[in-house]
Amino acid sequence: MMKANKNLIQIENVSKKYGNTFALKNINLEIFEGEFLCLLGPSGCGKSTLLRILAGLETNYDGKILKNGKEIDAIEPGKRKFGMVFQSYSLFPNMSVEKNIEFALKAFKYEKQKINAKIESVLELTNLLEHRKKFPNQLSGGQQQRVALARAIAPEPTVLLLDEPLSALDFKVREELRQQLKKIQRDIGVTTIMVTHDQEEALSLADRVAVMNHAELVQISTPEEIYRNPKSFFVANFIGTMNNIYNKFIRPEDVKISDKKGCNTHSGIVISNEFRGFYRRIKLKSEIENEKKEIIVDIPIFHHQDRSFNEGESIHFNLPQEVVSEQIKERIC
Ligand SMILES: Nc1ncnc2c1ncn2[C@@H]1O[C@H](COP(=O)(O)OP(=O)(O)O)[C@@H](O)[C@H]1O
Ligand SMILES: [Mg+2]
Repeated sequence: MMKANKNLIQIENVSKKYGNTFALKNINLEIFEGEFLCLLGPSGCGKSTLLRILAGLETNYDGKILKNGKEIDAIEPGKRKFGMVFQSYSLFPNMSVEKNIEFALKAFKYEKQKINAKIESVLELTNLLEHRKKFPNQLSGGQQQRVALARAIAPEPTVLLLDEPLSALDFKVREELRQQLKKIQRDIGVTTIMVTHDQEEALSLADRVAVMNHAELVQISTPEEIYRNPKSFFVANFIGTMNNIYNKFIRPEDVKISDKKGCNTHSGIVISNEFRGFYRRIKLKSEIENEKKEIIVDIPIFHHQDRSFNEGESIHFNLPQEVVSEQIKERIC
């Protein structure tokens, strides 16, 4: 995958303070050419600050950032060839769709003879041909964000920086645009760094996810690895829901409801039961090795085969093999 590609950006020991508080603390991160990297973390953890530093919008920081081995501080923001899209559409309201794109091409000093052809191809790529003459206020939020994306990629930037570009959109539009964004990024192969606080968005879009918390980078890996092998309870719980049993992280879908008592079976009392469409989420009160625990269990619903649970009902459940305690292993298994 992307690992084979060469390192394009190197972030070395980058820190940034506002007053006495760190917005970024000792960030070390390399970004590979062509990859889609998501910076994921809760609000206020420093994601936008890092993106703004990369874009050259924030110049006062400690540490070093290299692009192709050269310090980017030596390159003026306008000459970094970075394209940007923000959460707010930030289009020029007095310009039509095609004029917005043309403006960006001229600002980037794109070759004059190629401007018209470029506008054409980028409108096609972002599915905006029929809207080219419209002004921003004649477009929906999703369409406006496609224009912002078209405008950012038209000058063929070496890096695309996206700050929560889908967050202001309705769920359905967001999901649709997410797929389009991924396809466009794959088609043109532009190195992309996207900030999001939405774990599902990060998992579905990124080649690698960089999870941040309290100004620090806490884990960076592929979506699968982050989901399956989170390094801390914070990451585990931020990326979906997690049980902590014997200090091992167990996903709700890995706990299995069982009809009979077996070797690694425990019993619990149902305290809540939520229908969630294609699965049911129940919470159980249980006692494991003399420790009171609340266990979350997700039960898939296949072909309308569903079973309801009543609050107060006592049921059995199995934990995955890797959390069978040594005691239980010796005793029964
Ligand atoms: N211009 C600023 N002045 C003072 N504090 C700021 C400024 N910009 C950001 N911060 C603070 O830095 C921290 C990180 O902010 P930000 O990078 O915007 O977080 P995120 O994008 O992850 O939500 C927050 O505590 C925020 O309040
Ligand atoms: Mg932000």
